Amino acid sequence: MELIFEKHKEGRGNYTFPDFEEDVEIPEEYKRKSPLNLVEVPENEVVRHYVRLSQLNYAVDIGFYPLGSCTMKYNPKLNEEVSRFPGFTNIHPLTPDHLVQGALEVMYETIEILKKLTGMDGGTLQPSAGAHGELTGILIIKAYLKDKGEGNRDEVLIPDSAHGTNPATASMAGFKAVEVKSDKDGLLSIDDLKSKLSERTVGLMITNPNTLGLYERRIREICDLVHKAGGLVYMDGANFNALMGWIKPGDTGVDVMHLNLHKTFSVPHGGGGPGGGVLLVKEHLKEFLPVPVIERSENGYYFNWNLPKSIGKVHTFYGHFLAVVRAYAYILSMGFEGLKRASADAVLNANYLKKLLEDEFKVEYPSTCMHEFVISAKPIKDETGVKAVDIAKRLLDYGFHAPTVYFPLIVPEALMIEPTETETKETLERFAEVMKRIKEEAYKEPEKVKNAPYDTPVGRLDEVRAAKELKVSFFEG
Ligand SMILES: Cc1ncc(COP(=O)(O)O)c(C=O)c1O
Repeated sequence: MELIFEKHKEGRGNYTFPDFEEDVEIPEEYKRKSPLNLVEVPENEVVRHYVRLSQLNYAVDIGFYPLGSCTMKYNPKLNEEVSRFPGFTNIHPLTPDHLVQGALEVMYETIEILKKLTGMDGGTLQPSAGAHGELTGILIIKAYLKDKGEGNRDEVLIPDSAHGTNPATASMAGFKAVEVKSDKDGLLSIDDLKSKLSERTVGLMITNPNTLGLYERRIREICDLVHKAGGLVYMDGANFNALMGWIKPGDTGVDVMHLNLHKTFSVPHGGGGPGGGVLLVKEHLKEFLPVPVIERSENGYYFNWNLPKSIGKVHTFYGHFLAVVRAYAYILSMGFEGLKRASADAVLNANYLKKLLEDEFKVEYPSTCMHEFVISAKPIKDETGVKAVDIAKRLLDYGFHAPTVYFPLIVPEALMIEPTETETKETLERFAEVMKRIKEEAYKEPEKVKNAPYDTPVGRLDEVRAAKELKVSFFEG
């Protein structure tokens, strides 16, 4: 596609502002001495160029986006609208507390509601993403253990079904990540956990529901075992979209957890924009939270900086405030019953789609799933040479975003599918039909699937080269 600069034609002329020099007196020294060197492109061509560019992107507002582990649900426009209220967008983060009581109330109330939903006792809005929440939580655990004179512990146990950010977080915090195996049902192996617990254990980082879309039913027993060994339990709660209103992780023995506002609470994501990795802790960890914490007195809301054992700040100011506003608007518009229903529907949709696919595709762990499930394309690959990535690319030609591929690592040729609660029955049925059609193609015309996609702005990329040799400039060299 042509770049906007390439549409330039000398002398074609540009849009120019009306001559206002007569009305405004510009001092001589500020006047431009030579004309601006702008590209000359007519206004309608500029508009067409950018509208066309915007149409090259796929988005959840265009179609089904079953990207497992990402919860790409539809984000109601109401939340966008609220986050653009000038009362929220025009305030400066250094404004004194007493002049921004409304904004502080939104932050305070968001934490209060999330505490109620999760059964936790304190929280911070500072982390800007899930992985950032994890790091904050593990640093809090580190500070807690050090404070108790247990700072020599250095191993964080992580199930092989955990999200990849978990081991990365453990090592960023200076710990060794130790893998715990899953059992034959795709759940954490209690025997393997017992064999890995020791006086070196910092704690366990457990994703629940795990990345196979399964709820760790023995979570209480797991937490007890970790606590008995002197460690703490970090729950990766990024998959909370399956649990809202049904399970309070705080009641299951978890010490600290994060939520992804940009997955569960309807903050748009996918383009690397601002998100929210709210971190929640039980009572014994509250004194280690990042400063400032938001509190309320008879005089109103205020920031409390007086937390001597705090791990310090993890973000400028208070985190991504407008992401919090979106989540707060979503929570209020849904209500408790609405959130509970959303989780039920997310689980129902996943199980319905799994049912539609399971005769034709190998569902790795076939028991009832939570919000997502994983199929393995290995049998298809063995018989036709068509891999998980080929199926994912071919889906693009049929107008669907691809599922997550090759994750979790414990499933060969994994396709991880998360339909979310906002999709209709008809969409799920059409997706299942298309998946079956692609399977037929794999057996009849494997080359066609292997070379897909054909109907996208760019065809099959060399993904390794694309990642290693980023082209971030319009210009060569
Ligand atoms: C289970 C789980 N944990 C952690 C993360 C990391 O979140 P983020 O990408 O916001 O850092 C994700 C992201 O999708 C996730 O699905």
